[in-house]
Amino acid sequence: MLEADLLVRNIGQLITVRGSDAPRTGGAMSELGIEESGAVAALGGRIVAVGPENHVLDAVSIGPGTVELDARGCVVTPGLIDAHTHAVFARTRESEFAMRVEGRSYEDIAEAGGGIRSSVRDVRQASEEELFTRGAKTLDRMMEFGTTTVEVKSGYGLSLESELKMLKVISRLSELHALDIVPTFLGAHEFPDEYRDDRDGYVSELTRRMIPAVARAKLARFCDVFCERGVFSIEQSRTILLAAAKHGMVSKIHADELSAFGGAELAAELSAISADHLVCASDEGLKAMADSGVVAVLLPGTTLSLGKRDFARARFIIEVGGAIALATDCNPGSSMTESMQIIISLASMVMRMTPEEALVAVTINAACAVGMERSVGSLAVGKLCDLVLWGVNDYRAIPYHYGVNLAATVVKRGTVVSTLGRNV
Ligand code: NIG
Ligand code: FE
Repeated sequence: MLEADLLVRNIGQLITVRGSDAPRTGGAMSELGIEESGAVAALGGRIVAVGPENHVLDAVSIGPGTVELDARGCVVTPGLIDAHTHAVFARTRESEFAMRVEGRSYEDIAEAGGGIRSSVRDVRQASEEELFTRGAKTLDRMMEFGTTTVEVKSGYGLSLESELKMLKVISRLSELHALDIVPTFLGAHEFPDEYRDDRDGYVSELTRRMIPAVARAKLARFCDVFCERGVFSIEQSRTILLAAAKHGMVSKIHADELSAFGGAELAAELSAISADHLVCASDEGLKAMADSGVVAVLLPGTTLSLGKRDFARARFIIEVGGAIALATDCNPGSSMTESMQIIISLASMVMRMTPEEALVAVTINAACAVGMERSVGSLAVGKLCDLVLWGVNDYRAIPYHYGVNLAATVVKRGTVVSTLGRNV
């Protein structure tokens, strides 16, 4: 008999997403591995048994130390994985949102000194303590909405000192917060004011000083670049990502968000782990990504928040054999939400991803996009016991019933971390 300190039983639809841990493409993006009348047992934060309730109960010995959760016939899925966020920042930017509603564009506001550069001024002035306190609140809210693993980028420091400050805050949050955090270095988020007239000078600063220092401090697993017209060119992005790869950091790219710039093609060329946004990516770029196994991280919350009509072409990506993950892009400028639930709804409502595809995109495919597929993203023996007990009886209600919190109970590493959502 297996020992267990947690048993979740009476699950109506247990969405295991079991099977391969490689990014899911095509028809495999619809395979949820549903177990009707399921149960999950865990010990020390890891799953020891998962499957039909009678099998799990036969395999597990329940003692006085076993916490039992009754899912009351509801849906249980793996914890959600938010594969792209800028969740550490100093101040929100609702004034820019109001300007956008009145017709100013994101690019105009950035050009006028707002946008990322205004968040940079704020972060440079903020103390580690202030960034930590605000960051922790953001992570708390993510968790209440069912996220159990989150990628967090630096990128509002844009100097060695301030980028290290951000990455240290991310590292401290990772130690002290229940959520698992995957850190990404985004020193190439924008050109800092002091390098506006010497852009290549900043690229040298990144490759010669900042990347080696971040790598030495072991503060980031990935290196990301905002590769876009007016920001980092294809050549500059390539130079930065190759330098980061030499120092052991895997590439990610903010690609083709505002124009068809060639970011998707560059991601394929460099075998990046993911290319993100992709709203304007070319057919060739998306096909090249599919052929080289680069995960497409789509961020429909950003498109919505920026008031744009055209969303990333999820159906085309699936048709050409690409793997899709979804993320909030949580940041004070272009997507101020902590909720992966609204992202799942948008994926279905505006990008026409089926509920099955959307769920795969926020679990195993999102895990692949952040290199965490061996420990999270599906419910299998040996993986972390990260679960959402949903307040719904049918998983299709997750995208359908939107704008409310349907995550009734959230379990992180075998411990209940939120019970804020409402049961059916
Ligand atoms: O992913 N595109 C660049 N970076 C963020 C926006 C950050 C900001 O406006 O503060 C994004 O949308
Ligand atoms: Fe982003």
